[in-house]
Amino acid sequence: MNKGKTNILVVDDEIGYRRVLKNALTEREFTVKTADSGENALEELKNQEFPIIIADMKLPGGIDGLELLQKVKEKYNTSVLIMTAYGGIETAVEAMKRGAFNYITKPFSLDEIILNVDRMIAQHNIIEENKYLHSELKKAFGLKTIIGTSREIQKVMDMISRVAFSTATVLITGESGTGKELVARAIHFTGNRKHKKFVVINCATLSENLLESELFGHKKGAFTGAIQSKKGLFEEADEGTLFMDEIGDIPTAVQAKILRVLQEGEFIPLGDTLARHVDVRIIAATNQNLLKQIKEKDFREDLYYRLNVISIKMPPLRDRKEDIPLLTKYFIEKYNKRENKQIIGISPEVEEEFYQYHWPGNIRELENAIERAITLTNEPIIPLPVISPFVKKEGENNTFWEELFSHPYKEARKKALDNFNIKYVMNVLNKNSGNVTNAAKEIEIERQYLQRILKKYHIKSRQSA
Ligand SMILES: Nc1ncnc2c1ncn2[C@@H]1O[C@H](COP(=O)(O)OP(=O)(O)OP(=O)(O)O)[C@@H](O)[C@H]1O
Ligand SMILES: [Mg+2]
Repeated sequence: MNKGKTNILVVDDEIGYRRVLKNALTEREFTVKTADSGENALEELKNQEFPIIIADMKLPGGIDGLELLQKVKEKYNTSVLIMTAYGGIETAVEAMKRGAFNYITKPFSLDEIILNVDRMIAQHNIIEENKYLHSELKKAFGLKTIIGTSREIQKVMDMISRVAFSTATVLITGESGTGKELVARAIHFTGNRKHKKFVVINCATLSENLLESELFGHKKGAFTGAIQSKKGLFEEADEGTLFMDEIGDIPTAVQAKILRVLQEGEFIPLGDTLARHVDVRIIAATNQNLLKQIKEKDFREDLYYRLNVISIKMPPLRDRKEDIPLLTKYFIEKYNKRENKQIIGISPEVEEEFYQYHWPGNIRELENAIERAITLTNEPIIPLPVISPFVKKEGENNTFWEELFSHPYKEARKKALDNFNIKYVMNVLNKNSGNVTNAAKEIEIERQYLQRILKKYHIKSRQSA
C-alpha cells in the first residue's frame, strides 16, 4: 500500500484534535477524513475503506470509542488507534483486549501519532500481502491440475517448465476454453517470480481510455473523474507477471505504448511527466489469429514479434481426445466434492458421446457439461440422457472428415485410427457388459492385445477398472 492512497479516519468530538491530526497527517500525504461521533464514523465506513482509524475513547452519543472499536473489528480489516484522556488507563487496557492496535494518552506529541501510524501501515501491508498470497496460492494449485497425458499436452507442460525461469515474453494462442490462463498461471507460479504478483487484465472488456489508465495508471486530475492518483497494472505487477488476456483486442494506439514498455521497460502514467521503470514479465493470450490481424492492420507487426518470443499453442480438445477420460474423472471428483455427491463415472454411452463430440468450447465445455450433469443427477453413473442436452452432435460427421482432411496424412491417419480403435472396442465391450475376455473372443484377438488398446485410450472395462 502506498502512503498517498491510505485513508485514515479521525474520530473525536473536539474540533481542535480533529484539525491538528488532519493537518499533520495530510501533510504526510495521507487522505484524512474526520467524524465527530461514533455514529458518523460508522457512516463514513460504509462509503469508503479505512485501513486506519484514530479514535477518541470518549465520544458523545450512543457509541463510544470502545463500542466503535468492537463494531469496526467485527466488520472490517482496520487497525484502530485509541486516544484516551489522562487517567483512562483501565479502559485503554480494555481496548487493547478488544483488538485495538495501540493506545496513546492525551496530550500526545505528533511524533507519537506518526510512529504509530507507520507501524499500523506496516502491519496492514503484511496482512494484505498474506491475503493476496493465500488467494493466489489457491489458484496456483492449478499447476498440478493441468490434466492430460496426451503428447500434445505433454509438449505444453515441457514448454512451461522450460520457460518458467526466464523472463522472456510468452504468447499463448488457442481456441476458447483450451486452458490458456491455466498455463499462464502455471508459468508464473513455477518460476522464480512466484512470490511476486500475478496480475490479470482482460483487454477485451475495457474501452481504450479505461484500458490505458488501467495499464499505466494516472495522476490525480489527469482527466475528468480522476479524483485520485491510481497505480497502473504494470506497476502493480512490478517484479511479477502481467497476464494480458485477449491481447488481439487492444486498440492500435495502446499497442504502441505497450511496445514501448516491452522495449524500454518504462512508461508514463496518464497526466504525469515522469517515466516509471518496471520489471514485468508479460504473458499474453489470444484466441484470434494475430497474423491475419496484422495483414488487416489491426495489430502491429512489431508488437507481435515482441510478444511472440516464446509461443505456446494450446491444442483443442478434439485433437487430444485420449485426455477426455482423465479430465472427466478429474472434473467428476471436483464437482462431487462441491456438490457433496458420490458419482463414480459416466456410462459407456456417455463415453462414446464424449469421444464423438467436436468440443467447440474445449475443456471449459467439458467441465461445464460434467458440472451440470452432477448437479442434476443422483445416479452413481451419469447416464446419457443427463449429459446429451449439453453436447450437441449435429453435423458432427462432416466436421469429423473435414477436420481429418485439414491435417497432414500421417497425423490424419493416426486420428482416424484412434477414433476407429475407440469406437470399435467400446462397442464390443458394451455388448459384453465390460467383460474383456468375452469381448476379445468375439473379435478374435488376444485378451492381452485388447487390454493394451484399452490402456492406451484409458478405456475402463469391468476387469481393468
Ligand atoms: N489441462 C487441463 N486440466 C484441467 N483443467 C483444465 C485444463 N485446461 C483447462 N482447464 C480448465 O478449463 C477451464 C478453462 O480454462 P482457461 O480459462 O484457462 O481457458 P482459456 O483458454 O483461457 O479460455 P478463454 O479463451 O475462453 O478465456 C478452466 O476452468 C480451467 O481450469
Ligand atoms: Mg481465458
